[in-house]
Amino acid sequence: MLISPEMNAALNEQVGNELAASIQYVCIAAHFDLEGLPFLAKHFYKQSEEERDHAMRFVKYVVDAGERLEIPAIPAPIAHFESAESAVRLSLENELTVTRQINQLVDLAIQQNDHTSKGFLEWFVNEQLEEVSSMDQLMRMVRRAGESGLLFVENYLMTRQMGARDSAGGAQS
Ligand SMILES: [Fe+2]
Ligand SMILES: [Fe+2]
Repeated sequence: MLISPEMNAALNEQVGNELAASIQYVCIAAHFDLEGLPFLAKHFYKQSEEERDHAMRFVKYVVDAGERLEIPAIPAPIAHFESAESAVRLSLENELTVTRQINQLVDLAIQQNDHTSKGFLEWFVNEQLEEVSSMDQLMRMVRRAGESGLLFVENYLMTRQMGARDSAGGAQS
């Protein structure tokens, strides 16, 4: 077959990791929503959707490779945060963890001369650079603003979200 049992197991594990990231972002978004920070909330709800898309890319690959999909138990997310900074710091740490997980998958693909999986994983290698760098930027901004200055961060995200909507072809909703 196209991929080894070991690669199959590692990919299944990663489906769980991406779904775990997705539900963690839901909790972070809900936290910001309750704190009266709607644009930070929106930003993290969107991150959550992206993580689900990542999980589904892995699902599709496993199925395309003709292998069994087994999703592991997903640990409960952290639901309470002392500050905006701690929520964003957790997000950044999680993105760094996922980057290591993707690197380990690439290592396994290389060890096994599995060019099919290596090619598939290439997209995630690039995506993680983007995810880590944008989360790091948000982290710096939240830290600089301080808890009392979070409306500046809201303002920045609002402008950016509106810009993204405009460049996607104007307001549709
Ligand atoms: Fe992801
Ligand atoms: Fe991510």
